[in-house]
Amino acid sequence: MMMKVGNILIEFKHVSKIYPNGARGLKDIHLHIDKGEFVVIVGLSGAGKSTLLRSINRLHMITEGEIIVNQKSITRAKGKELYEIRRDIGMIFQNFNLVRRSSVMRNVLSGRVGYHSTLRMVLGLFPNRDKELALEALERVGLREKAYVRADQLSGGQQQRVSIARALAQEANIILADEPVASLDPLTTRQVMDDLARINQELHITMVVNLHSVELAKEYATRIIGLRDGEVVFDGAVSEATDEVFEQIYTKEDKKHAKMRVAE
Ligand SMILES: Nc1ncnc2c1ncn2[C@@H]1O[C@H](COP(=O)(O)OP(=O)(O)OP(=O)(O)O)[C@@H](O)[C@H]1O
Ligand SMILES: [Mg+2]
Repeated sequence: MMMKVGNILIEFKHVSKIYPNGARGLKDIHLHIDKGEFVVIVGLSGAGKSTLLRSINRLHMITEGEIIVNQKSITRAKGKELYEIRRDIGMIFQNFNLVRRSSVMRNVLSGRVGYHSTLRMVLGLFPNRDKELALEALERVGLREKAYVRADQLSGGQQQRVSIARALAQEANIILADEPVASLDPLTTRQVMDDLARINQELHITMVVNLHSVELAKEYATRIIGLRDGEVVFDGAVSEATDEVFEQIYTKEDKKHAKMRVAE
């Protein structure tokens, strides 16, 4: 079948990243992510998961290659263009990144900031349409009744769902989530992952999620990307991600080196 170019949402073209201190973040990442996918990135601590995710919205600058988002080069974009590309990308962090002393509503409305002038935002003048969008977003994560509660009065799981609502209010077509459930208990973890899955299915928002848990990756992903030392060591459907594959992703030492050591 011919590949439909219009379906490609994120494209990595031979992307590498070396941090200023010489640490290797990514090495020659070459892949694309299509509209509607639920991609889970797995790998050991230090494998490059956060670096990969954060390079998509240029929270981290790559040192080689190019990244295309929604048909535009975020690597080359400047000023207004960069700002507009970023507006289509929602971001969810392990620690929620909410303004804790503000209301839930305020936090969700902050997803709309990119659509208005600075002055308007300094004055906090959000149009009614934005308030409707924010309430709709809260409805979708089951928190509409919490709209006027202070964010720090919610549980961790609820706070994470507020951050999901913020990405929805932003009307992003891509959501990047860096270990969104790492600080949550098992039940809450499931609620947050279910929200992401539902949003992916109902709104066709493309998900790129970093997870530590292999179980969750298998359960929620449509595609798994395994990273090791900044390189892609597996990229395929969940059905192809066998125990051997995970073993390869999560083995600390290179098997070759281990064998050599035995031979010594
Ligand atoms: N700001 C930084 N400065 C220098 N090196 C960094 C920086 N951030 C990450 N690195 C290095 O880049 C590599 C990839 O790190 P990254 O944070 O992307 O890994 P990760 O897979 O997200 O790990 P974790 O599961 O612990 O979050 C590691 O070797 C790390 O030490
Ligand atoms: Mg990380």
